[in-house]
Amino acid sequence: MSKWLDNAIFYEIYPQSFKDTNGDGIGDFQGIIEKLDYIRELGCNALWINPCFLSPFGDAGYDVADYCRVAPRYGTNEDLKQLFEEAHKKGIHVLLDLVPGHTSIEHPWFIESMKADKNPYTDRYIWTDKVWESPEVSFGGSLRGISERDGAVAVNFFSNQPALNYGFYQPDPEKPWQQSIDDEGPQATIAAMEDVMRFWLGMGCDGFRVDMAESLVKNDPEKKGTIRVWKQIREFLDKEFPDAAMVSEWGDPQRSLEGGFHMDFLLEFGTSHSNDLFRCKEPYFSSRAKGNIYDFVESYKENCEKTAGKGLMCMFSGNHDVDRLARHLHGDELKVAFAFILSMPGAPFIYYGDEIGMRYVEGLKSVEGGYNRTGSRSPMQWDDSTNAGFSSAPASDLYIAMDPDKDRPTAKKEMAAPDSLYHEVKKLIRIRQSHKALQSRGKITFVYAEKNAYPLAYIREAGDEKILVIINAAAEVKTFACDAEPKEAIYNFGVAAEVKNGKITVPAQSAGFYRI
Ligand code: NOJ
Ligand code: CA
Repeated sequence: MSKWLDNAIFYEIYPQSFKDTNGDGIGDFQGIIEKLDYIRELGCNALWINPCFLSPFGDAGYDVADYCRVAPRYGTNEDLKQLFEEAHKKGIHVLLDLVPGHTSIEHPWFIESMKADKNPYTDRYIWTDKVWESPEVSFGGSLRGISERDGAVAVNFFSNQPALNYGFYQPDPEKPWQQSIDDEGPQATIAAMEDVMRFWLGMGCDGFRVDMAESLVKNDPEKKGTIRVWKQIREFLDKEFPDAAMVSEWGDPQRSLEGGFHMDFLLEFGTSHSNDLFRCKEPYFSSRAKGNIYDFVESYKENCEKTAGKGLMCMFSGNHDVDRLARHLHGDELKVAFAFILSMPGAPFIYYGDEIGMRYVEGLKSVEGGYNRTGSRSPMQWDDSTNAGFSSAPASDLYIAMDPDKDRPTAKKEMAAPDSLYHEVKKLIRIRQSHKALQSRGKITFVYAEKNAYPLAYIREAGDEKILVIINAAAEVKTFACDAEPKEAIYNFGVAAEVKNGKITVPAQSAGFYRI
């Protein structure tokens, strides 16, 4: 079991937009290597890098054409290996992004699979046996008319992402093209995906963030088939790479952890209600204080009960699929939101640039299948040099345009200002790292999380360390009843809480962590 996850703090890198070292307008591995010290200085000790493999980039690399070769625009496999090594020297673990559910239409498996004559890849994807019959599976429609083979193929996301075949939970006997998980085709797909994992883990990667992990087995409403497939893969990992860390994009910890994942994300979809906190009309962390954290907490508590001891649920500041935090929250609201994100159980994920308050860039044309997501994928803003230090290319050659705002935040400005968001995030990371109770596995008990009310209070606990966290996002002072008595403050944003007759009063827009 990967112990390092217990105090991991991740930094997510969208490699296209992080740092370009050869002036072609797109980020690369050498750029990430160059910035490892920045990441380390912030306090993060783990990375998740979005897919960086050969791809036609119809979906920013989530349409893979060769799982074992990196896209030349980022460098070579050797560069990626060097990145693993350099990161490890600095105590940073690295997760790659595994996309097991689908490939691009350019993948050699798919090219073979489209052929009319039977070959080892005929059953690698989900094909019907007549081009006019649609597969009608969960997760998307189908693609027809581009193959010599008479059939339509299921897709998983965009139309150019054919779904790999892991079988159907209960194949329909009327539809002989539906295979079961144990058939040769699905088992060969699993073995092929294990080869991919073996390849990168053998080269020094520490595990994977797994894309659409819940999508593998089709027509599997309770996910029993998909869980079985992941358990089979976990067995392989336990034998060959017991330390490999597995983080799922699933959004349902009760199921993903049963499948053997160590951690799952509390996603923008599913039942987590995490959008209520950060990304809706009245987010809970807005100082207008019209939000509601109750449903989030209820769903969180239920997940805690059902997954007790099995794994971790992770909070993130953002990712490449959702609006930047700074689209909905501003100024001190961001600091208060980070105090929450960085004091919750599960390893937190910081999306590149969120630590300096990078904005969602409005009005961009879609790049590589980004659509509304493109505004969250603009280049990292390092300093006040050309293209904010991201790239020396002419502005017109950049992968995505820079945030045009003349006051755009940069890492340099943020690092120079002692009261910046960057310094608050850094401080919060340092405090989390020095208190076990605040780390991934510390227990959480909510003490005040009422409907449409502020503040939010919870106790984090590990061994005999108990820490009361009080977060008041509202622009006004709040008082609440609480049995726990805050003693020494280990962190305060705003003045410390006052305690009187079993009631605690906290200042407007504040966060405090107290020993109890
Ligand atoms: C989830 C990824 O995060 C997203 O960026 C991608 O478009 C889809 N899965 C399809 O792979
Ligand atoms: Ca480059």
